[in-house]
Amino acid sequence: MVFCCGYRKVWVWLTVMALVCVSTIVGLWVYQLTSFPPPTEPWDRHRLPDTLVPDHYYVTLWPRLEPDATGTYVFTGKSSVRFRSLRDTSLIILHCKQLKLTTMDKHLARLTAISGTAPEIRKTWLHVPMQYLVIQLNGVLKTGQDYKLYTEFEGELSDDLEGLYRSEYYEDGLQKVVATSQMHPTHARKTFPCFDEPAMKAVFHITVLHKRGTVALSNGKELAVVDTIVGGQAVTQTTFEQTKKMSTYLLALVVSDYSNVTSQNGSTLIRIWARKSAISGGQGDYALNVTVPVLKFFEDYYSIPYPLTKSDQIALPDFYFGAMENWGLVTYREANLLYDPVVSSNRNKETTATIIAHELAHMWFGNLVTLKWWNEVWLNEGFASYVSYLGADNAEPTWNVKDLIVLDDVHRVFAVDALASSHPLSSKEDEIQRPEQISELFDAISYSKGASVLRMLSDFLTEPVFIQGLKTYLNDFAYSNTESSDLWDHLQQAVEKTGTSLPARVHDIMNRWVLQMGFPVVFIDTATGTVSQQHFLLDPDSVVDRPSDFNYQWIVPIRWMEFGGTNTVSWLLEKHAVHSEMKTSGQQWLLANVNVTGYYRVNYDTANWDKILTQLRSDHKVIPVINRAQLVDDAFNLARAKMVPMSVALNTTTYLTHEREYMPWESTLNNLDYLYLMFDGTDVYGLMQLYLKKQVEPLYAYFKEITLDWSKVPDGHTEQYLQVNALRVACSTGVDGCQNLTSTWFSQWMAQPQNNIIDPNLRATVYCSAVASGGEEEWNFGWQMFKNAPIAIEANKLMSSLACTKNTTLLNRYLSYTLNANKIRKQDATSVIVSIASNVEGQTLAWDFVRTNWEYMFTEFGVGSFSFASLISGVTASFTTQAELDQLVEFKEQNADIGFGSGTTALEQALERTRANIRWVAENQDEIRDWFVQHT
Ligand SMILES: *[C@@H]1O[C@H](CO)[C@@H](O)[C@H](O)[C@H]1NC(C)=O
Ligand SMILES: *[C@@H]1O[C@H](CO)[C@@H](O)[C@H](O)[C@H]1NC(C)=O
Ligand SMILES: *[C@@H]1O[C@H](CO)[C@@H](O)[C@H](O)[C@H]1NC(C)=O
Ligand SMILES: *[C@@H]1O[C@H](CO)[C@@H](O)[C@H](O)[C@H]1NC(C)=O
Ligand SMILES: *[C@@H]1O[C@H](CO)[C@@H](O)[C@H](O)[C@H]1NC(C)=O
Ligand SMILES: *[C@@H]1O[C@H](CO)[C@@H](O)[C@H](O)[C@H]1NC(C)=O
Ligand SMILES: [Zn+2]
Repeated sequence: MVFCCGYRKVWVWLTVMALVCVSTIVGLWVYQLTSFPPPTEPWDRHRLPDTLVPDHYYVTLWPRLEPDATGTYVFTGKSSVRFRSLRDTSLIILHCKQLKLTTMDKHLARLTAISGTAPEIRKTWLHVPMQYLVIQLNGVLKTGQDYKLYTEFEGELSDDLEGLYRSEYYEDGLQKVVATSQMHPTHARKTFPCFDEPAMKAVFHITVLHKRGTVALSNGKELAVVDTIVGGQAVTQTTFEQTKKMSTYLLALVVSDYSNVTSQNGSTLIRIWARKSAISGGQGDYALNVTVPVLKFFEDYYSIPYPLTKSDQIALPDFYFGAMENWGLVTYREANLLYDPVVSSNRNKETTATIIAHELAHMWFGNLVTLKWWNEVWLNEGFASYVSYLGADNAEPTWNVKDLIVLDDVHRVFAVDALASSHPLSSKEDEIQRPEQISELFDAISYSKGASVLRMLSDFLTEPVFIQGLKTYLNDFAYSNTESSDLWDHLQQAVEKTGTSLPARVHDIMNRWVLQMGFPVVFIDTATGTVSQQHFLLDPDSVVDRPSDFNYQWIVPIRWMEFGGTNTVSWLLEKHAVHSEMKTSGQQWLLANVNVTGYYRVNYDTANWDKILTQLRSDHKVIPVINRAQLVDDAFNLARAKMVPMSVALNTTTYLTHEREYMPWESTLNNLDYLYLMFDGTDVYGLMQLYLKKQVEPLYAYFKEITLDWSKVPDGHTEQYLQVNALRVACSTGVDGCQNLTSTWFSQWMAQPQNNIIDPNLRATVYCSAVASGGEEEWNFGWQMFKNAPIAIEANKLMSSLACTKNTTLLNRYLSYTLNANKIRKQDATSVIVSIASNVEGQTLAWDFVRTNWEYMFTEFGVGSFSFASLISGVTASFTTQAELDQLVEFKEQNADIGFGSGTTALEQALERTRANIRWVAENQDEIRDWFVQHT
């Protein structure tokens, strides 16, 4: 699964949910408050008993695409589940949520034995707090015997983006309805009664009844599509090929009038599905183009053929996540799957390629072999995130996309993992029980730290050893479930077979990175060769109260190089060690963590920092480009942690007048963004603007020249990214001609709305810049274009640019739209609020809005919603004053009884960050002001 919206745009998790049954929420909270002492009845426990295992489900579903007489959209269904009893028991418990079950012979289910007779049902009931259907029997289910449980049910086909749900869009002026599904992580139970835990794998036989003229898709291939009459209604019945043995959360079902483009990879049928107009407009072609090489790559990488007979990928108008890896039927937000060369930027293209690679990576890692429980979800998501770069690189070899993991994952997660309120990758199984606890695990730590740590592992094992261990792991556990230690076992076997030399067993090395939170900063004193490590905390005054079995020490692979030398790996096993090979002399500098393959920061003695800075100014290209980005990021973060003076960090930015590579610039701008957040509203802000303007002017001139006065697109992929940065920073710092350029382009578009000649790569920047310098007329035009945008990619750019206006009346109007689903789709509401908060003029407005509407949003969006974390961290990012801290504390107190759901951790982090910011500004403002005064 991936979340929406890449980090390099605005870092926003998600979206919004609606209308989760209120009684469920209340039930859940009441239960939590009264759940002490621990529950004794099996139906009061969050985990299913281990007495029964399902093996086959026979499910028929009929979603209605038109409302019934009461105006409600519904689906009906019937399901039979065959299961085996592992021990004698007189109790059947399975999951069931928000379904109306039909009573048959006075009970909610019917039980039969596969051979012999089944015990009689004594009593059945829905146990709402635990989302269970409970069946008590008069006799026992005998050990080793197979039984079948039959249910009939009706559910609401609502627009809540959970389970089987409804999505709507307009085409040719007509409203169209799609029935689609999102079972992950715990919503299969909202579609039919089932044993809804990832280790309860079974084979699913799915049949769908649907309106004539629509297409039904599911995990398996369509076997038979026949027209029939059911209950007097003419419908089509589609029967699907039975699935492989798989987890409930990977089921999928879509009914639509979509069309498709298709191709073939060996015997695998590949199809891309979308709205008819999108397919006829060629918007599915790029996805189809990358799917074949990506599938081929993974078949090779895992040495296992694609396990299914077909691969469908479908674009949905309303979708909670960025994409979901349902086995054989992957679902995406439209913006992530569809690509149109006329309106999509190269960043959109990269997003499509990497998200497809992420989801297809799961077809093996995650789907074929599945983690036993959600506490280790990091391994599933971290792995898919890591190899998505490899898959995308295979499809687009000229992009250098593998390097970008350092900006998009490593840097992104360093920022949160350096807080005392961080958490380890792996949680204890019994700490992850409730659905919202499961939801909370899908965070930057799981995805980005997971990816970073696995990349480090692959680097120190070497890729062939990593792949060998992976291959035997996948083969051994195909169609079953694992724990992370199973993967370490297989990698260790590969290490032994190949005679690879490591300082410890794979388990012992990895446990340090997986079971304790955070990461080390390695200090290298090049005068003595002393190397040491310490837990890196962004705020040196923060208190770590989470204990660690390893005392916050890591086993660290240090890949390092000297000027002109080749690189070597030395291991740091202790807190302090002397590595005499790391002693340098004269002008010789030493650089560690080459290409940032390691998940740690590096600090040096002052003399080495000076030598590196001198090298950057004289000939920066001697230092690898990834490390140029890293030196900036390390220096700024070490300065924030008071390990180096702020002027060392600022000094890493002076050479940028000569830098023409994207990664160092992007890293610098991200770090300066922090200073901007801290100093907006002070005199330092103006000084920073002057300095940055001076730094970016040569870059702006460079692009003006190589693009022949902005008429041609630069050749390289990251060069195109850098052009966007050049334009954005030049316009926002007032470089001559920039604002005029963007306003002119925008007004040309306003004059001829049918003819937008703005380069797709530059659109997000140009729109924002033009809306910021424009007034109500520009804003209204942007809004009109947003509502009429023919493709989600274009709509998203307009949507975020509307948050760029400096007019507070317009910003307030825009905020109010987020509570109106007809104006802003539920999936986009939090993203809009966070965009507004990242505009200096909108910060206070967005915070006030969230404070005022918290209770409403929390109830409306649901306890399990993932979006609260991004909302809280987004609106509090710029907090630097005591008054803001007081408001935050008050917010926490006032809403304690309502709760913060998946935003609970984010709120703690916001408090920690705000306290640190207040101290930091007080301590650093003068030094930073002085530095900028000297350099402008
Ligand atoms: C997929 O599209 C092809 C044309 O490209 C069409 O022939 C086929 O019927 C479509 N498949 C389904 C199941 O609609
Ligand atoms: C897809 O591949 C074909 C054949 O290589 C190419 O002509 C076409 O331009 C590609 N489409 C996109 C959108 O990349
Ligand atoms: C570092 O990364 C660059 C760019 O991807 C690559 O060309 C180079 O070989 C890498 N260096 C090492 C030592 O891996
Ligand atoms: C930063 O660079 C300036 C020269 O540009 C130098 O005088 C100063 O000592 C440097 N500061 C640090 C802390 O390295
Ligand atoms: C851009 O500058 C030109 C003169 O250089 C001026 O005529 C024009 O009005 C400006 N356009 C905008 C939108 O400010
Ligand atoms: C902001 O927009 C409102 C509504 O369009 C308008 O009435 C007001 O004059 C604008 N304010 C400024 C400062 O431009
Ligand atoms: Zn994923």
